[in-house]
Amino acid sequence: MKLAQVSALVPGMILAKDLLQRNGILLVNKGTVLTAELITKLKFWGFYEVEIEEPPISLKDQQEAAVAPQIAAAHDRVVGITENIMSAGESKDIDTNLLRGMIGDLDSQIDLNTNVLLNLSHIKTHDNYLFSHVTNVAILAMIIGKEMKLSEVEQKELGLAALLHDFGMTRISNSIYDKSQPLSPDEWMEIKRHPDYSMELLKQSGGFSEAVLRGVYEHHERIDGSGYPKGIKGQDICLFGKIVAVADVYDACISPRKHRKRMTPYDALKNLLGQPHLFDIQILKSFVSCMAIYPIGSFVKLNTGQTAKVIGINHGAPFRPEIRIYLDQNGELLKPPIRINLFEPQYIQTYIQTTLESQEAEEIFDLIEK
Ligand SMILES: [Fe+2]
Repeated sequence: MKLAQVSALVPGMILAKDLLQRNGILLVNKGTVLTAELITKLKFWGFYEVEIEEPPISLKDQQEAAVAPQIAAAHDRVVGITENIMSAGESKDIDTNLLRGMIGDLDSQIDLNTNVLLNLSHIKTHDNYLFSHVTNVAILAMIIGKEMKLSEVEQKELGLAALLHDFGMTRISNSIYDKSQPLSPDEWMEIKRHPDYSMELLKQSGGFSEAVLRGVYEHHERIDGSGYPKGIKGQDICLFGKIVAVADVYDACISPRKHRKRMTPYDALKNLLGQPHLFDIQILKSFVSCMAIYPIGSFVKLNTGQTAKVIGINHGAPFRPEIRIYLDQNGELLKPPIRINLFEPQYIQTYIQTTLESQEAEEIFDLIEK
């Protein structure tokens, strides 16, 4: 139990003592979960401080914390094995059974723990960019595939295409791939060859279907024909190529690179939606319906003045995700943070007012990760 100023109360906190009027009449029972409406009333009634319970760790937080290490280990395993296979490049045949098994594991994790997996894939570091990127693209592509109700077989093939989509990048020198300065026309030409390189490597190895090969080869083609390597348009681009394109651009935008800062997940989604001439509109719609308006990982400001991070999506309620409130309205760090689900009726008066700009989000990210 602790004393908290009413100005620092946060929806989701729990009253530890009954609140009484001066004449002893009960106003609010102890154990009541505070809502934005109730906090406003407390201010109106002239309360300055109230006793609150130490925020309990929610059951969902506990459940997610229990599965997170296994999911993180599965994610790391995919990154590691992919690194191993991709780094071996032309010298080794690809173990397609191993890859299919990993894709199957990821696919079942998506069924069980999409939010945990998405939270994990939004944690970005500079290490291992290529291999964690392709793993995240596989996760995102399969999430889209599920939304589009692809068959089980298609779903696995899509995952494989997404995981291998940038295989050819391993043939490109790091001095070009990781360059922090703008690329010269020749260097850019070399980058644009990576779909061809990927295709060669996969054909050399063998064991991949035509659908996987095309998905890999066409992931930089764009609806209006402005993409590469062939500049094909619209319906001529295969489904896997179009899905991987959306997942690839989204993950690239939210990842920090040497030559640019990362975008917030919200801005990355806005960026995709602002370019319907480049990406398939049905796929964009599916992506938005599974990522919601405020994708997991977005930092948001609430109407109540607090700052929170989006940690879960409520299907069918794109504006009302699950959030974890990290800062109170005075900008003080809450320890532990408070998890609330904006979809629950008691939080109807709490809503997301705005998303934070990259710089501000970065500062908060540093603060909470300490
Ligand atoms: Fe690529």
